[in-house]
Amino acid sequence: MKKVISLILMGCGGVGRQLLQHIVSCRSLHAKQGIHLRVVGVCDSNSLLVASDVFTMELGDTSLLQVCRIKSDGSSLLTLGASGELQVFTNLESTKKIIDVATLLGKSTGLALVDCSASSETIALLTQAVDLGCCIVMANKKPLTSTMADYDKLISHPRHIRHESTVGAGLPVISSLNRILSSGDPVRRIIGSLSGTLGYVMSEVEDGKPISEVVRSAKSLGYTEPDPRDDLSGMDVARKGLILARLLGWRINLDDIRLIESLYPKEMAPGVMPVEEFLGTGLLLLDKDIKERVSKASLSGNVLRYVCVIEASRCEVGIQELTKDSPLGRLRGSDNVLEIYSRCYNGQPLVIQGAGAGNDTTAAGVLADIIDIQDLFP
Ligand SMILES: NC(=O)c1ccc[n+]([C@@H]2O[C@H](COP(=O)([O-])OP(=O)(O)OC[C@H]3O[C@@H](n4cnc5c(N)ncnc54)[C@H](OP(=O)(O)O)[C@@H]3O)[C@@H](O)[C@H]2O)c1
Ligand SMILES: *[C@@H]1O[C@H](CO)[C@@H](O)[C@H](O)[C@H]1NC(C)=O
Repeated sequence: MKKVISLILMGCGGVGRQLLQHIVSCRSLHAKQGIHLRVVGVCDSNSLLVASDVFTMELGDTSLLQVCRIKSDGSSLLTLGASGELQVFTNLESTKKIIDVATLLGKSTGLALVDCSASSETIALLTQAVDLGCCIVMANKKPLTSTMADYDKLISHPRHIRHESTVGAGLPVISSLNRILSSGDPVRRIIGSLSGTLGYVMSEVEDGKPISEVVRSAKSLGYTEPDPRDDLSGMDVARKGLILARLLGWRINLDDIRLIESLYPKEMAPGVMPVEEFLGTGLLLLDKDIKERVSKASLSGNVLRYVCVIEASRCEVGIQELTKDSPLGRLRGSDNVLEIYSRCYNGQPLVIQGAGAGNDTTAAGVLADIIDIQDLFP
């Protein structure tokens, strides 16, 4: 008897496409484990492809790989066109169609909605799907960092939701914390470098390189968002901090996170300064200050790290001076590092370290989450 996990993928960007590739290439592994991943739908921001009969049909591997190719070429999913196997819907009809499928499958065969988008538009859909009995797997941080009411709704059936890849990509951050918490071991402090870009920037400036040069090379290495200010603002780290704080049971919102500093001043914000100007002359104005702070820290044997700290009743995001011989102080390059202190991990923290970004590891984290909910499928 094979266990069939039915799913709809939302978002086919870097992560979503990599997930489809992993699903196809893991077919024989999953068959050995007695599992089959049945993709009944795939959507992006403009259109939705759905199996013509969601009970008996699925998007075959040929279609899934075609989706990847079409999206990498920058074409629309509509290019694939309707066929005997597939129905195609445009943006306006997609949400309603997904709800229809969730209504049909949620409480019968089971259905996982897999959110690999980077959008807040999926929140309404996901919260409705929870009531229809669906499972939810997310790489997207937005649904979990919206209002407390949305959060409560999403986690109302904790066994139905997985979101390992929202913090530290494929690293087992969420699952490790959940294990600690469910054993009644109180988490007293979490401190982490949760941005590959900022980890890389801070360790390079430590070697005496000007931050302007470091940011430009990080961009050319593909470590940053197209506009590096999306990373340098610290907002993405704040979202990850909020997800961790809420996991600890804190009832707080994004506004309650103290975003101590963005690495650029307000005058250089997107909307005020064009990205070309920021990368050109703007960045140069940041060099002197960072250089001075690095030297000052190094006089006391310390290093600067861009971290998220969750402790007592505060959650803060910004640059902190740390001792060189701590796990975070030793961090080099773009790895994420997380130190967790609890009763069991008291003097020495539990340390989780490794690549915290990248399509491959992120998609692998999502796939492992999907496999992890298999028992909820008949
Ligand atoms: N890449 C990483 O290393 C990494 C690591 C950890 C977490 N994540 C998270 O994983 C998610 C995906 O990242 P990515 O790098 O793959 O992003 P991406 O390349 O920007 O892809 C986003 C995808 O979502 C689709 N989309 C946008 N709005 C949508 C909507 N309302 N409904 C359905 N799909 C929608 C986009 O559609 P179009 O194709 O039509 O634009 C696109 O296909 C993000 O939330 C990101 O924060 C990424
Ligand atoms: C992730 O995928 C996107 C889209 O295919 C690509 O542009 C980007 O370079 C990939 N990122 C990494 C780190 O491989």
